[in-house]
Amino acid sequence: MGGVALATDAPLVGMIGATPQVAAKVDSSSAVFQPDPALVALGRRLFVDTRLSEPRGTACSSCHDPAHAFSPALSATGPGVPQGSRPGHFSRRNAPSLLYVRYVPQRYFYQDDDAPYSAPFGGLFADGRADTLTEQIRGPLFDPDEMNNASPASLLRKINDTEWSPELASRFGPTVQSDPEQLVRALGEIMQAYLQSNEMAPFSSRFDDYLRHRSTLSPQEMHGLALFKDPDKGNCANCHTLSDTASRPERSLFTDFGYDAIAVPRNLALAANRDPRYFDNGLCDTAQHLHWPEPEQWCGYMRTPGLRNVAVRQSFMHNSVFRTLRDAVAFYNTRSTKPQQWYHGRSSFDDVPPIYRAHINVNSTPMNRRPGMSPALSEMEIDDIVAFLRTLTDAAYIPAMPADSR
Ligand code: HEC
Ligand code: HEC
Repeated sequence: MGGVALATDAPLVGMIGATPQVAAKVDSSSAVFQPDPALVALGRRLFVDTRLSEPRGTACSSCHDPAHAFSPALSATGPGVPQGSRPGHFSRRNAPSLLYVRYVPQRYFYQDDDAPYSAPFGGLFADGRADTLTEQIRGPLFDPDEMNNASPASLLRKINDTEWSPELASRFGPTVQSDPEQLVRALGEIMQAYLQSNEMAPFSSRFDDYLRHRSTLSPQEMHGLALFKDPDKGNCANCHTLSDTASRPERSLFTDFGYDAIAVPRNLALAANRDPRYFDNGLCDTAQHLHWPEPEQWCGYMRTPGLRNVAVRQSFMHNSVFRTLRDAVAFYNTRSTKPQQWYHGRSSFDDVPPIYRAHINVNSTPMNRRPGMSPALSEMEIDDIVAFLRTLTDAAYIPAMPADSR
């Protein structure tokens, strides 16, 4: 149930572990979402309900702040990841915006004509470990560093003390008052309906108006867009896909939902990283869990995030290592030409274990260079890309953008 399933025009060509391989890329931009309005209304309330955590006080909205385009509002001095329900406990990773999350397809494998092997796409979280939004809710509810419920049974006892209990029973039947698994499934369906609603995919940015021929972008923003697409300059659209010739903004989600290993620097402020032997290996944990063949080949891979509303964010990349959008963009440009600028005297690619460093993307422009070579972009061109990325902010969040993302 739920999630953007494999499109019917993508016939199966084989299986990889438990995951079907498809013959064509899944086009989730053409999916139609019609969640039940009654469930959407319940989801809107549940999302901000702080009674679901242990101890109480943390709602989904605590980490996915509706005033910040559903990404976290962070303190400037913290580790860059949101805090859970217990003081001093922080999420293991950065929290993404939940706008447009309905377009994330379920996991699938697909082999491009010119690719040597088939590659995974889709799945929720940076490592794709949840396949659908109904399944995803188990993550935050039971993560000891997030909402910290001990078990579905303890969550059920808690919910049964609230007005949710009769409401859920009238909607899903009385078993949700006694069967913890039924309860979690019902909560998942409610949250999925909310996250699939049109209010979570507003398409109200200046870029969307530009696509609809209702307004123009400034010369600097247009130049940024050109650099973003140019395979010899930013080359960003190679992974953060867009279609500026289509007036349907769903065609421009700024991700192909694929995975890549771009080797962002280690964030030393993360608690787990105090242990030098600890690494967040991303997709290969999921690959292991799902028994894909040779799961280690995916160590270091993270899902490519969409970039809509990225200029509202206060930290960037799966490990929140960057605190300005400009740094996130500039990193690509000089990661390979001037690694010391990013890895600060530590070894390059220091957040990927040495045995997996062969997986790191050293072929895509602008990361395909060697130390000392000249970078693909000038400082001014980086500014132009940042200016373009700021046009991807939906109307409601323009006041929440930091004035200067330098
Ligand atoms: C304590 C902070 C915190 C709370 C509370 C929280 N989340 Fe999250 N959320 C995160 C983090 C961190 C991630 C990314 C984790 C990862 O990639 O492994 C995330 C990821 C997600 C994703 C996946 C998005 C994507 O693009 O893959 C969804 C959906 C989501 N959360 C929904 C919710 C819902 C619904 C709730 C409430 C039941 C909730 N979250 C509560 C921190 C939180
Ligand atoms: C080869 C694929 C690829 C290319 C090319 C690429 N990106 Fe990314 N991008 C990724 C992946 C994968 C991540 C997530 C990395 C992580 O979390 O560690 C990412 C993350 C980001 C983020 C952080 C978003 C967030 O929510 O934290 C920004 C900003 C970004 N990319 C901008 C760009 C720009 C600008 C360019 C062009 C200069 C570009 N990317 C080129 C794959 C790519």
